[in-house]
Amino acid sequence: MSCCPPLMNSKIVDFVPPPPGSPCRIRPAAHLITDKKYLDKFKLAISRMKALPDSDPRSFKNQANVHCAYCEGSYHQVGFPDLKLQVHNSWLFLPWHRCYLYFFERILGKLIGDDSFAIPFWNWDHPDGMKMPSIYTDPTSSLFDPLRDAKHQPPILLDLDYNGEDPNYTDEEQIDHNLRIMYRQLVSNACTSELFLGSPYRAGDKPDPCMGSLENVPHTPIHTWTGDRSQPDGENMGSFYSAGRDPIFYAHHANVDRMWVVWKEINKKKHKDFTDKDWLETSFLFYDENKLPVRDVLEPDVMRYKYQKVDLLWRTKKP
Ligand code: C2O
Repeated sequence: MSCCPPLMNSKIVDFVPPPPGSPCRIRPAAHLITDKKYLDKFKLAISRMKALPDSDPRSFKNQANVHCAYCEGSYHQVGFPDLKLQVHNSWLFLPWHRCYLYFFERILGKLIGDDSFAIPFWNWDHPDGMKMPSIYTDPTSSLFDPLRDAKHQPPILLDLDYNGEDPNYTDEEQIDHNLRIMYRQLVSNACTSELFLGSPYRAGDKPDPCMGSLENVPHTPIHTWTGDRSQPDGENMGSFYSAGRDPIFYAHHANVDRMWVVWKEINKKKHKDFTDKDWLETSFLFYDENKLPVRDVLEPDVMRYKYQKVDLLWRTKKP
């Protein structure tokens, strides 16, 4: 599929992190947002992004296409014209999406002239966050997307290992089930870098070696659960090419990214990133808030963002 964003005739520059003293952006849990000013700013930023012309790589359409381009074979690997570049199903999954959100967030901030603007996260690992966050379901808002499953609208609870069939749980059972899944995917099944982050994928390798525990569940089932089952490919959230067209995508992925932070925090001895050079030195191209093409990925600290602290109720839910 060809969904590459427009090419700009500028030189690719290396990523420069925000200066150390610059504001730290705190990403809030979507269901806890009560600040109307923040919400209005967020909606305004998204509508401005949607209003940018197709020739601007920062437009909402082009941003959604960045995701499409990196997973539907628009690019091949440098030096390997027969091998496509795929950022899912391997150790590239978490770092690539981290960069993608970073630039998405910076562009939104730029469009409203607010350097401290942070995107919200869909707190689906907490019982109160286990439904579509209401800020996304108001049809008059720029955060709305009509292509979502009609049977999964609030207050229907999310099923974290949704397989296409709606389970027959009571709400209480569903929450308990979900918390146990979180424990399983972040603790029991995630004791090494490879199990959690995914398998090595280096230049010259065929794509899709093996995904990590978090990418597998609940990341993928939440995509399927959110997308509209009456569409041919579960659009928008249920398909790689269209997922980024739904504003909820970025909240979903902010929580995926947050789970990476949490995974490292809950077991500092065992839960570590790869030290493999090929992983550390992988770089990607994005457009920044000034439309400059840039490369690189970094630590949240260096990138100047954090997540609002929320209780981790699944920490005691050993399956
Ligand atoms: Cu790039 Cu959630 O997929």
